[in-house]
Amino acid sequence: MSHRFSAVRNHKTLILRVSPRDIDQDKIRVAAEIIRNGGLVVFPTETVYGLGANALNPNAVKRIFIVKGRPIDNPLIVHVAKIEWLYRYVEYVPKEARILAEKFWPGPLTFVLKKKDMIPDVVTAGLDTVAIRMPSHNVALALISSANTPIAAPSANKSGRPSPTRVEHVIEDLDGEVDCIIDSGETLIGIESTVLDLTEDPPIILRPGYITKEMIEDALGKEVIYLSYSDRPKSPGMKYRHYAPRAKLYLVTGNESKIKQKIKELIHEFEGEKIAVVVTEENRDDYGVYTCVIGSRMNPLEIARNLFDTLRTLDKKGFTTIIFEGLEEKGLAYAIMNRLRKAATKIIEA
Ligand code: TXA
Ligand code: MG
Repeated sequence: MSHRFSAVRNHKTLILRVSPRDIDQDKIRVAAEIIRNGGLVVFPTETVYGLGANALNPNAVKRIFIVKGRPIDNPLIVHVAKIEWLYRYVEYVPKEARILAEKFWPGPLTFVLKKKDMIPDVVTAGLDTVAIRMPSHNVALALISSANTPIAAPSANKSGRPSPTRVEHVIEDLDGEVDCIIDSGETLIGIESTVLDLTEDPPIILRPGYITKEMIEDALGKEVIYLSYSDRPKSPGMKYRHYAPRAKLYLVTGNESKIKQKIKELIHEFEGEKIAVVVTEENRDDYGVYTCVIGSRMNPLEIARNLFDTLRTLDKKGFTTIIFEGLEEKGLAYAIMNRLRKAATKIIEA
């Protein structure tokens, strides 16, 4: 496609195992040096693994797009190691950003703000705003600090695939195509950061995440709004299909008391397909087909953590049809449902 850079392959990847509880500074220095030299380093964050490059080096950032197969009109998040770095790269830091950074940084909340000229256009897809966050993962913070430069990083998956929450997912998608992968085990949250546009009043949640609308409103003492599904994308990149497994995914929403019945009807309807059902503990049943329990409705964090791994695992097992139980869209489950809606082939009301 003309709006994507062409792909390059065939070079070796250095894999460094770094424990978040006992950080090996020598390994961090090796990875940081790769970043400083314009290379690509996959690193863990508390949400998902990121595919990082020096955000101030346009050629390094271009390689992210090549390796990911990412459309160049989809801008990247810039990761910083200190709240003060916000002032280095952002033209104007509004009161809301100061309050929210104080409260939620380091953590899974990304701000969209007016950028300074030193942030290259390739990072922001030519927009005059930049997405910026300070992750809370120790290894991410150590890497950014050691590189002493902000790191631009999308999720470390091939464009359109489920985001990586384990290093096996990264290796599946990117082995041989990046300079270094830091393996720090499974990520804690499992879905990407909340993206909040602070250039508008009221602020707009462009992508829901672990930091919920209610948490942001409590901190600010005022209302924020969701970007509705029908709105024009704020970043052109948001129009693309995401998180999709190769199988067809049917998301069953609505009345919980009717979910089991609806799933059984669908299994009947799709007879002949290789079907997998994904349900919560609460709706476990004998469906007569492969059934995966993703977690409990009482513990949405468990579901968030397992979400992308479940989609990838079902693909590997060769299922052609996935029937997925939807959740009530509140709190973290709102963000989980946002990912599932984007991954779904079809949404079916129970
Ligand atoms: O948790 C996360 O946010 C992970 C980790 C690695 O930090 N990163 C991540 O990046 O999910 P990515 O590239 O997969 O998603 C970034 C999102 C995209 O939806 C993009 O369109 C949006 O942020 N975005 C980036 N810059 C923007 C801007 N200037 N205006 C509006 N949206 C922007
Ligand atoms: Mg992504």
